[in-house]
Amino acid sequence: MKTLTALLFTCILAHAHTTVGLKVAHQSAPLGVDDKAPRLSWRIEGDGNGLAQSAYQILLATSPEALKEGGADLWDSGEVKSTSASTAYAGKALPSSAWIHWKARTWAGDKASEWSEPQRFLTALIGSQPTQPYISFKDASPFHKDQKKLHLPPARYYRTTFKPEKKITRAIAHASALGIYDLHVNGQRIGDAHFAPGWTNYRKRAYYNTYDLTPLLTDSNNAIGAVVADGWYAGYVGYGKLVGYGPNKTGRNIYGKTPALMVEIHLTYEDGSTEVIGTDATWKTTTGPETEADFLMGETYDARKEITGWATAAFDDSKWQSAIPAKDNGPVTETFIDKFTKEKREFGFIRPPVLQAYPAQPVRAIEELPAKSVKNIKPGTWVFDLGQNIAGNVRLKVKAKPGETFVLRFAEMLHPDGRIMTENLRQARSTDTYIAKGAPEGETWTPRFTFHGFQFVEVTGFATEPPLGSITGVVLHSDTPFSSGFECSDPVVTKVFQNAVWTQRGNWIDLPTDCPQRDERMGWTGDAQIYAASAAIHADVAAFFRKWLRELEDDVTKEGYYPSYAPYPFGHGGAVHGTAWSDAGVIVPHALWMATGDTSFFTAHWPAMTRFMDARKAQDTDLKGTAFGAPWGDWLNLDDPTPHPYVELAYFAHTSRMMQEMAAAQGFKDEAAKYSTWLETLRANFRKQYLQPDGTIKPESQSAYVLALDCDLLTEPAERKAAGDRLAALIRAKASPKNTGMTTGFLGTKPLLPVLTATGHHDLALTLMQSRQYPSWGYEVENGATTIWERWNSYTKEHGFGGADGKMNAAMNSFSHYAFGAVTEWMMTTLAGIAPAEPGYAKIRLHPHFPTAAPGAEPITWVKAHHDSPYGRISVSWKREANGSLLYEATIPPNTTAELTLPKSSPWKGDNAETESRTLQPGEHSFLIP
Ligand code: BGC
Repeated sequence: MKTLTALLFTCILAHAHTTVGLKVAHQSAPLGVDDKAPRLSWRIEGDGNGLAQSAYQILLATSPEALKEGGADLWDSGEVKSTSASTAYAGKALPSSAWIHWKARTWAGDKASEWSEPQRFLTALIGSQPTQPYISFKDASPFHKDQKKLHLPPARYYRTTFKPEKKITRAIAHASALGIYDLHVNGQRIGDAHFAPGWTNYRKRAYYNTYDLTPLLTDSNNAIGAVVADGWYAGYVGYGKLVGYGPNKTGRNIYGKTPALMVEIHLTYEDGSTEVIGTDATWKTTTGPETEADFLMGETYDARKEITGWATAAFDDSKWQSAIPAKDNGPVTETFIDKFTKEKREFGFIRPPVLQAYPAQPVRAIEELPAKSVKNIKPGTWVFDLGQNIAGNVRLKVKAKPGETFVLRFAEMLHPDGRIMTENLRQARSTDTYIAKGAPEGETWTPRFTFHGFQFVEVTGFATEPPLGSITGVVLHSDTPFSSGFECSDPVVTKVFQNAVWTQRGNWIDLPTDCPQRDERMGWTGDAQIYAASAAIHADVAAFFRKWLRELEDDVTKEGYYPSYAPYPFGHGGAVHGTAWSDAGVIVPHALWMATGDTSFFTAHWPAMTRFMDARKAQDTDLKGTAFGAPWGDWLNLDDPTPHPYVELAYFAHTSRMMQEMAAAQGFKDEAAKYSTWLETLRANFRKQYLQPDGTIKPESQSAYVLALDCDLLTEPAERKAAGDRLAALIRAKASPKNTGMTTGFLGTKPLLPVLTATGHHDLALTLMQSRQYPSWGYEVENGATTIWERWNSYTKEHGFGGADGKMNAAMNSFSHYAFGAVTEWMMTTLAGIAPAEPGYAKIRLHPHFPTAAPGAEPITWVKAHHDSPYGRISVSWKREANGSLLYEATIPPNTTAELTLPKSSPWKGDNAETESRTLQPGEHSFLIP
């Protein structure tokens, strides 16, 4: 029997280590923290194997000067013997509207690191909420009632000036809008957030953003300004217009009629006195160049209407109207209609009862993509290609006469004749218009209050061939730091991984949307639960999901069911909730706990989570699995459906297991026992109802097997093996030279490759992964995909956008939908073999799986991957050497250990079934398996 050969073990070096990567509430140096006890975390770095933390010390102070031992006026934790790399703040009450300075150091054995670089974060209002009134313009317009005609009001400008009586030493602003807004001070736009303050159920909660204005204010007159557009609050939302939801079925004004602005500035003067100023009726308002500014429909910008210097103190605003307190627009009662409701509702101003600091990284312009080509498709019409499907905007650069108009339309795909394919946008007009002012040096423009999902931009308005530089793509998304990488010898597989990351980027717009292009862009819970673990591999999504989980809880039904999307602007489908969609309320917190080790993802939501499980049990008292809500089931499967009660039984078991783990982690023994009993009963009922004496499952769909295996309905090894064999046989039976044989939809595809690998069918998993045949991920890549498609048959060679049989509704066909991208979880955890063995990667599971036979395509011969865990980067690579040996290399970050499992003999030299495991310490490791 061969054993693992350790080629190289760097000897244990007692090098100095450093304390780095400080984060507050899962963000680096956040602006606007309102937690009383925010989570503080750090990492240690250093060379040498075996580096591990034995203790830490944290200092927090109200000034950089006080940030020293013995001087820290907020908290000196002292030396805390602990291996934990995070703790909740436990010092004096944090002051509101203040910079907090902090640093940390750690010990490895008896060696202390230097203090980390000092960091700072800005607090919001801790223990209180902004109290300044919201203001609006006097809105005498009739309520929009025409379902057919678009109503696209202009963005609104607001401004005021103030002259401080004393010298200001600190000025912290907290600002929000019902709508979306940009804040300006003394002629400068503040911050770089897009679409602030984000989407919430504004009737329950809204966020505000916190800014330090101190460096921008002067001792003389100062100007504060804001531009406010309809956004999610008053503009078109989702498919509301398409299906006739919202007040008067128009699809807009879902939360209210008139957007409103709230600014509250906390001033501290030199003498220590303080003052609060903010929005009131002395502000002035007008409209500007954004004559249309809708999230879905697009923006129209008439540059001739720009108001030079509008946010400076010297500006003459005598022609502007006076703003009014938003409540003075009075009540507006209209009939709200959705799938389940027809009722009179109030659409006048309602102050959000809860105002909280925006808890995540904002949406920002992350990257610019120059256009790759431009084609003249008919006289006067040019189509620019960015080479990548994105969510965002473009920067238009023109030299034109005043009044010359440029119309921009956006698309993900082209028709064969070069025209942009816009059928899949449905009612999203997705058109931006720029009217030039005629600046002799040329002019550039990027819209502020809309975004599109696109790769191609059609532009009309150029008299002659435009230079390529006329259009630049501006990629927008929530600024979650990237944390993954994957490459392998099969370029198609590498591209699938990159496409999934791009699809995540295209849908991380303040919330996890389903798609960025059509009139939808909703936080579908099924998509989110399927993809949450993958998302947490690709980026640090902790703060992002912390926000969204609040929105999810805000829209729980009166029975306690999580909704099918969050926020939940209107009801649609068979029910508010649904199997495998509502489950996001349990699965997402569990996935985030696994990725980060932070239990607050479920402790903060535990009452709602238990209420959900109890409500689910109340409608299925015998735990048999019954139809539960909307029957999407294994959505978008290829003619191989799985009955709804079956899916419910599987997901009920799946979430019971997770609830049991999360109850146990909190020390709730009785609750853990309760979920354990439920799980056992569900398993027993699965056997009675679905498992046949010969080990097959009836009804027999591919996803039925996948779910039985993934949701632990089958526990006996022999039964699991039999189910895996049957699943593999079903796929093979369906396979042909023109078809991979895979028929799974949203629910079955995510765990398909994991269960195939786990039941001894890794080669089939690889065959599917590497296939270029329909349906597969590789088929998309072979057909030019730069993102993951909504459907396996979003585009086929035979029928274009008409689906596998040419009859598909092209309107329901997104080219940026991340659910099928959940295969990247398998690529990282199983193919590369990096997974958390304990929540947060304190213990890492390294278990790569190799091809044992050529799976049709050239078998994968090397893989390189990394994930940036809370403890630092975990990197692995494996490679088939020229002589057929396996070279495996891994780097494990400090403060962790890894359990590595490798075959005893090279996978390229016959049977590799026998494996050997060993524990790795932090550092670099290399193994050659002959
Ligand atoms: C969305 C999906 C979603 C589904 C529910 C679609 O319109 O785009 O991704 O989960 O509806 O079945």
